[in-house]
Amino acid sequence: MKKVNSTKYTCLEMFARQTADGGRVRVLSGNADGSRMITEKPAGKNYYAWLKIPLQENTDYEIHSEDCEVSLSYLSGSEDLLETGVRFLEKDQADGSFYAADRAAWYDRPTRETYHFSPWKNWINDPNGLCWFRGYYHMFYQCNPHGQQWSDMYWGHAASRDLVHWTHLPIVLAPQEEILENQGKVKGGAFSGCAVVSDEEAAFYLTRHKGPMEDGEDTVEQQWMMRSRDMVRFSEETRVIGQPPEGASFDFRDPKVLRVKDRWYMVLGSAIAGQGAILLYESADGEKWEYAHPLLVEEREKIRCFECPDFMELDGKYVAIGAWMEHRDACGRYQMCRYYIGTFQDGEFTVENDGWFDFGSNCYAMQSFVHQGRRISIGWISDFYEEHEPCENGAYGSMTIPRELHVRDGKLYMMPVREIRTLKGKTLYEGKGENMSLSGIEGSAYRVRIGFSQNTFFSIQLGADGEKSISLVNDEEGLRIVTKGVKSEGIRFKADVSQVRDLEIYVDRRVTEVYVNGGEAVGTKVFYKSLADGCFALAAETPENVVWAEVVGMKSIWI
Ligand code: FRU
Repeated sequence: MKKVNSTKYTCLEMFARQTADGGRVRVLSGNADGSRMITEKPAGKNYYAWLKIPLQENTDYEIHSEDCEVSLSYLSGSEDLLETGVRFLEKDQADGSFYAADRAAWYDRPTRETYHFSPWKNWINDPNGLCWFRGYYHMFYQCNPHGQQWSDMYWGHAASRDLVHWTHLPIVLAPQEEILENQGKVKGGAFSGCAVVSDEEAAFYLTRHKGPMEDGEDTVEQQWMMRSRDMVRFSEETRVIGQPPEGASFDFRDPKVLRVKDRWYMVLGSAIAGQGAILLYESADGEKWEYAHPLLVEEREKIRCFECPDFMELDGKYVAIGAWMEHRDACGRYQMCRYYIGTFQDGEFTVENDGWFDFGSNCYAMQSFVHQGRRISIGWISDFYEEHEPCENGAYGSMTIPRELHVRDGKLYMMPVREIRTLKGKTLYEGKGENMSLSGIEGSAYRVRIGFSQNTFFSIQLGADGEKSISLVNDEEGLRIVTKGVKSEGIRFKADVSQVRDLEIYVDRRVTEVYVNGGEAVGTKVFYKSLADGCFALAAETPENVVWAEVVGMKSIWI
């Protein structure tokens, strides 16, 4: 039997569902006098019950699950939880007991990103509640801890001192009881939301969703609020907005709150008369909200609604960003995020320019926050072309590298936060004026930087596995990501730039992010391959235009 030493942890959290009547979790500890203490907790009958079992510090435990499935299990409740994170437990297949798993080894598999944040296992989508609070960056996120598919939503949580290395923290929010108890008949849970922080506390705004399996007029989306003073304990939620305003759709979610002068504003994703809209609410105290009017209505293209809108002041302008639900563009790309830059006066947003947030279209539901003057955004690396290949103990989805946003010449620019440079590993290539090729790149985790003296036609290989490949091509059709042998083949992932001066490319096993011209355009694309090692090749028509090129390995954030 494996034993787990609780060390500084005082709680065992397990999500357990019965596979037969009486299914339960058993925790045994030996006492000094030779007697044994047994704690038993019943698993949920039709759903994963969230069990919390108190533990003594520095004590050995034997932990078993009997006639139940455990989807996620970890130790929590230590004094320095934000610093160390939880300790995940996994089940030993041989004897059925749980053991404390090693984090570095867990993530060091060809199917797991190594420097992009992803959960311990299973499904993740939107980043939520991004903020910096008392020494730590916090990222909450939408997740299904029980499987590699979207389901009723929980809020996961992670913290970081440097925006690069993260500790996993306990699950914060679960779906409403009535949703858990009526699995398969209704769906919902704790949907996306944001955080607003002061010196003393963090206030969270989020959507609670409850509705039929197929969204429709019976779908209920309401906005709720909760608070925390330490990011470990969270208050009860209180409802702040009970229903959509007259004329707005039942799609009515994902609050993002900002302060402009002495007023609070909330933007919500919705639709009005069949046109995607971002709704604007106002408040004097952050608790009582009144609908003002639509901040923005997208009249040019048919979208079901905006999801996860953001609204911010940036470099003297105002920027709204939102995800276009159920939209396909002329290139074949599905569900892109759009940015709108303009002015905001007396509650009126006047758009001057707009563009795609990410031309690779595997970046959705981005959210931003400000810390020390930097506007930082993180997006969910999504998979709308269904290229995911489930694997045992795998995760489905990850987060982009945190990006610093700016407005320049009426366009949205973004580059990875400077902290990511600390992950720079071995130099794999440095040179200029030539084409080059690297194979067997250890761990398939690297960064590339290339500068061109003038716009140059090229094909850059970023990944290959048998017939499957991903590359970045620049020719008379312009700059674009090209995939072959995978479901997204044929879709044109085209960047809206007239020439390519420089590139910064991040390849991380299944994920690629391409930053063009110092952030003028950014493209995120997933590419699944089973090979552990990576490859990279630059084939330029006029290699003499390559004024510098560098390829470096990237270290894991989990060691
Ligand atoms: C966007 C989204 C949000 C919603 C959440 C549910 O990906 O659909 O609109 O709040 O995900 O998980």
